[in-house]
Amino acid sequence: RALFRPIHQAAPPSPTSRRTKISVIGAGNVGMAIAQTILTQDLTDELALVDAKPDKLRGEMLDLQHAAAFLPRTRILASTDYAVTADSDLCIITAGARQIPGETRIDLLQRNLTLFKEIVPPLARHSPSALLLVVSNPVDVLTYIAWKLSGFPPNRVIGSGTNLDSSRFRFLLADHLEVNAQDVQAYMVGEHGDSSVALWSSISVGGVPVLGQLASDDNKAAVVMEQGVLERIRKAVVDSAYEVIRLKGYTSWAIGYSVASLARSLLRDQHRIHPISLLAAGFYGIPSDRKVFLSLPAQLGRSGVLTVANVHLTDEEAARLRHSAATLWELQQKLDV
Ligand code: NAI
Ligand code: LAC
Repeated sequence: RALFRPIHQAAPPSPTSRRTKISVIGAGNVGMAIAQTILTQDLTDELALVDAKPDKLRGEMLDLQHAAAFLPRTRILASTDYAVTADSDLCIITAGARQIPGETRIDLLQRNLTLFKEIVPPLARHSPSALLLVVSNPVDVLTYIAWKLSGFPPNRVIGSGTNLDSSRFRFLLADHLEVNAQDVQAYMVGEHGDSSVALWSSISVGGVPVLGQLASDDNKAAVVMEQGVLERIRKAVVDSAYEVIRLKGYTSWAIGYSVASLARSLLRDQHRIHPISLLAAGFYGIPSDRKVFLSLPAQLGRSGVLTVANVHLTDEEAARLRHSAATLWELQQKLDV
């Protein structure tokens, strides 16, 4: 006996309605935090997971599938074979080595370059029209590598970049000012991590520029003290990941939410501005022949990077950005991509 009785369909389903598919490569701490945030936020119809360890991968897939009664309906697939990712709209790469206490993100480069040579070509072959979003570290150099290995146009290859650093910045500012982090506008740009650049002039709360307020303050001592606080906050942002890694071994929840916010802006064509790693050659005095990826605030939509915001950088901020670009450029010269 059939479970349901069909009713007459006046018209067949529209041939233009297409299911959305996201693939997550790497089912570790970061990949699974991203997967579960994407599921709870109902961002895709199909989610494909890929990892090199088949048992762990199947275990993670089953564990997520067992939450079906509590989640929006999503088909969850997993395989060590990249065929499972075919026709993805968005491919998110989180596979690879992570830092142990004492290591920097750049220390991971050679190990993760070797993995990217195995990962990116089959991913690009199975989803030639996809957007690629790199999360593995060092994210800026690996985004450059993914761009080279995929052969995709640069607007379709981005790194999660300082979207996370900016959230940490906003959290710490909000905590200090006793406001909601969602009301704090503030950007960190440049390299994700150690040399990221805080854009002080970008900070505003509910439309009120924080530095403008300080500049108009007659009490010079208060201004100096406040700038000390700002510098302490910037340093805390840069130290954030090291502290979490020292305490719990890895970072996962914040990057999960950060990447889900990018997935929403991209796939739902939101035209929202996020600081993400993009091909920065030609911006802010970075020579146009230096193909480095660094974070700048950019508008994201269904075709990837739509525009780059023309933010005001002080001479010092622009110089720091160019310094990061030069360092990454030198590093890239030594790579065999
Ligand atoms: P993890 O060790 O928990 O997971 C890595 C996964 O990659 C493992 O499941 C492993 O089996 C898989 N893997 C290794 N080689 C593979 C291959 N060839 N193909 C497919 N899968 C493969 O590490 P975790 O904590 O998930 O970190 C992953 C990466 O994300 C690290 O590089 C880490 O530094 C980076 N990360 C980046 C952040 C960012 O803001 N950009 C934030 C947090 C982490
Ligand atoms: C982060 C990683 C480790 O949480 O890049 O910042």
